[in-house]
Amino acid sequence: MGAGSAAAGERPCVLLCVTGCIAAYKSAEIVRQLQKRGARVKVLMTEHATRFVGPTTFRALTHEKVAVGLFDDPEDPIHHISLAQEADLVLVAPATANIIAKMAHGIADDLMSTTLLATRAPVLVAPAMNVQMWEAPATQDNVRVLEGRGVRVIQPDSGYLACGDVGGGRLPEPSLIADLALAVLGQGGPLAGEHVLITAGGTHEPIDPVRFIGNRSSGKMGAALARAALRRGARVTLVLGPATAEPPAGARTVRVETAAEMLDASLDAFADATVAICAAAVADYAPAHPADHKLKKSREHLDRIELRETADILAALSARKQGRTVIGFAAETSDVVAYAAAKLARKGCDAVVANDVSRPDSGFGSDTDKAWWVDAAGAAELPCMTKDELAGEILDRAQELRRCAK
Ligand code: CTP
Repeated sequence: MGAGSAAAGERPCVLLCVTGCIAAYKSAEIVRQLQKRGARVKVLMTEHATRFVGPTTFRALTHEKVAVGLFDDPEDPIHHISLAQEADLVLVAPATANIIAKMAHGIADDLMSTTLLATRAPVLVAPAMNVQMWEAPATQDNVRVLEGRGVRVIQPDSGYLACGDVGGGRLPEPSLIADLALAVLGQGGPLAGEHVLITAGGTHEPIDPVRFIGNRSSGKMGAALARAALRRGARVTLVLGPATAEPPAGARTVRVETAAEMLDASLDAFADATVAICAAAVADYAPAHPADHKLKKSREHLDRIELRETADILAALSARKQGRTVIGFAAETSDVVAYAAAKLARKGCDAVVANDVSRPDSGFGSDTDKAWWVDAAGAAELPCMTKDELAGEILDRAQELRRCAK
C-alpha cells in the first residue's frame, strides 16, 4: 500500500506527524479517532515533540514502531523513503509554524521534514500555535504556498490558548481532524474535491459610524452547512456576516459586515468554488448616503433615512454559474412552495430551501426547521428536523445535483 493505493478491504495507512507543541498530547486521541474509522496509524515525531509526549504512548496505541530520528532504525537505512511510500495519507497534527515553514521551503533536515519532502501521498496539516505566530505574515504566506501546492490546511480553532492569549491557533477537535483525514483519503468523503462556498449571518448597513440597519440572524444554519460540507470532505469557505454562531474549525471563514462586502468576498471565493449555498440574511436595503460622522439628533434628520437596494448575491452567483451548483433559501409565511418556486425562477439558482417561518418549530432562532426542497423537478416536503440534520439533507441533495451536472 502507499500513496493512496489502499486496495479494497485493506486498511489505509495514515502517517501521523507530531511536532513539538503543547497540543501534542491531543495527537493520542487523533490516533484513536483514526483507528475507530478503520485506519492503520503510524506515528512520526520530531525530537521536540518527544518533550511533550513520549513515543511509548504512541507505540502502545498503534502497536507500531514510532519514528523519530533519521538514523534510529538500523534495519531501514533509508527510513524517510519507506515511511513516505507506505503512507496513503500524511497528517501533520499538531503542526508548528516551524514545520509549516520547512514544508513551504523544501527544507529537509530531520526525519519528518525529509519524509514530507519525499512523500507523494496527500498531505493534511492541522496547525496549532500561539495566535501571534499563526497570524504572522510569514506563517500566512507559508500556508498559502502549501495550499497552492494542494496541501489541505485545517483552519485552527479560536479560543483560550495555552500561552494565555485568546485567539486563533487552537488545534481543532480530534474527531473533526479524523473526519477530514478520512475524507481526504476518499473514504466517506462524497464531496471530496468540491469547494463549497456558504454565505451566512446577517449584514450591518451603516447609517453613520455608530448606527446601522441590521437583523438578528444567528448564522446557525450557515455554520451547520459548513460542518456538514467539511464532514463530507469538501473544502469550505464561509463568508460570514455579523452572527452569534461559532464558525467551525476547518472552514476558511471570511468575516464581512455589509452586503457589499459579502458580495465581494462571495464573488472572490466563487472563482474556484463548485457549489454555493446562500444562507445569509442579507439586508435588502442599505442607507443610500451613510454619514462619515455621528449624526446629531438635534441638528440632523434621523427621522428619515434614504435607502437604496443592496446587490442580490444569490442572483449574482447564479448569473455566473457556468456548470456550478447554486442553492438559495427562502423564508416564507404562506404559500411556501409557490413563493419558493417563483424565487427559484427569479434568482436563476438550482434549488431553493424554503422555510415555513410562521411555525414555532421553524425559522429564526429555532433549533429545528420545517422546510421544502424546491428545484426544477418540483417540490419535496422534508420532515421537521434539526438544523444539523437539514444541513446534511441539503448537502446530500447538492451532491446529487453535482452528480447530474458532471
Ligand atoms: N439573498 C442574497 N442577497 C440579497 C438578498 C437575498 O444573496 N441581497 C439570498 C439569501 O441568502 C437567500 C435568498 O436570497 O438565499 C432569499 O431571497 P430573498 O429574495 O431575500 O427572500 P426573502 O428574504 O424571503 O424575501 P422576499 O420573500 O421578500 O422576496
